[in-house]
Amino acid sequence: MRKMMMAATLAALAASPVAQADPPFDPKDPKMAPYMAGDKRSGYTFAEPETRAMQDDDFSNPGFLWVEDGKKLWSKAEGKAGKSCKDCHGEAEKSMKGVGTVYPRFDPHANMLLTLEQKINQCRTERMGADAYKFDSKPYNAMATYVKHQSRGMPLAVQTDGPAAPYFDMGRRLYYERRGMSDIACKHCHEDLSGLHMRSELLSQGMPNGFPQYRLKWQTLGSAQKRIRGCFEEVRAEPYPVDSLENTVIEMYATWRANGLRVESPAVRK
Ligand code: HEC
Ligand code: HEC
Repeated sequence: MRKMMMAATLAALAASPVAQADPPFDPKDPKMAPYMAGDKRSGYTFAEPETRAMQDDDFSNPGFLWVEDGKKLWSKAEGKAGKSCKDCHGEAEKSMKGVGTVYPRFDPHANMLLTLEQKINQCRTERMGADAYKFDSKPYNAMATYVKHQSRGMPLAVQTDGPAAPYFDMGRRLYYERRGMSDIACKHCHEDLSGLHMRSELLSQGMPNGFPQYRLKWQTLGSAQKRIRGCFEEVRAEPYPVDSLENTVIEMYATWRANGLRVESPAVRK
């Protein structure tokens, strides 16, 4: 029964009009080269021209409000230790350059896989004596965007060997696991059907290189964790909790798929 429903859903998706990005996507367009790596395509190359134009101009990109907020928070002393990020890390432009390319990453200190947001919270609770930023709160998103933005233009390079290997294997398993009413896995939409329309949306390869990103549908900025939960809802499956091991290994696997694509944070997407 579930198999049949999935077959029906996939058939319906495949039968909907096959439309290309508008204007039609040309892989040889030199303007697109920075948003590709071999066969890998950033969601930017699937986005409509108006959305791309918003991202191209830092002044019209609403995500820069979060970059600016993060910059202010960077030098704000908080917590029992009376320290700011800057007191220990100096200028973020130098110390955080490249840091955003390797998360989610195995953290020897925590002895587990951490997202960039979780690593920032680790510094807050363990080194500053401050409260962790609450998931999806303004400062949570602002600090992550500010830190990640220091890697803009650098290729993602998530590591999968050594102590990261079991997390990677689990992430891959979950990426290919069918779920929800329609019995569909991440891979069906973002590998098999990418380039096709699903309702009003053009399915991309599901590359997380733009997170945290400003989403027009959200009317705000959000994290990869939030987006992945949204994709579960697309197939009417119960999402894993935020920051759960499952959601984090899926983020890791999805980010590894994007290795080589450049960080765009904060990207703008529909
Ligand atoms: C039923 C189809 C469907 C499934 C299944 C699905 N997604 Fe998505 N996903 C979408 C749509 C639609 C979008 C928005 C348009 C686009 O970028 O494809 C999206 C966007 C994304 C993006 C953002 C891409 C960008 O450019 O910012 C990521 C990352 C992503 N999905 C990851 C996942 C992961 C991980 C899974 C499995 C847990 C998953 N998706 C399952 C439909 C799906
Ligand atoms: C008391 C000093 C101290 C403060 C304050 C501090 N950190 Fe850290 N942070 C460290 C040290 C030391 C490391 C390296 C060891 C580790 O990874 O835990 C680190 C590591 C990091 C990393 C990982 C770097 C990498 O290469 O993976 C990030 C990201 C980070 N800090 C962000 C922040 C942010 C954002 C703040 C402010 C909210 C902050 N830190 C506040 C001491 C501090």
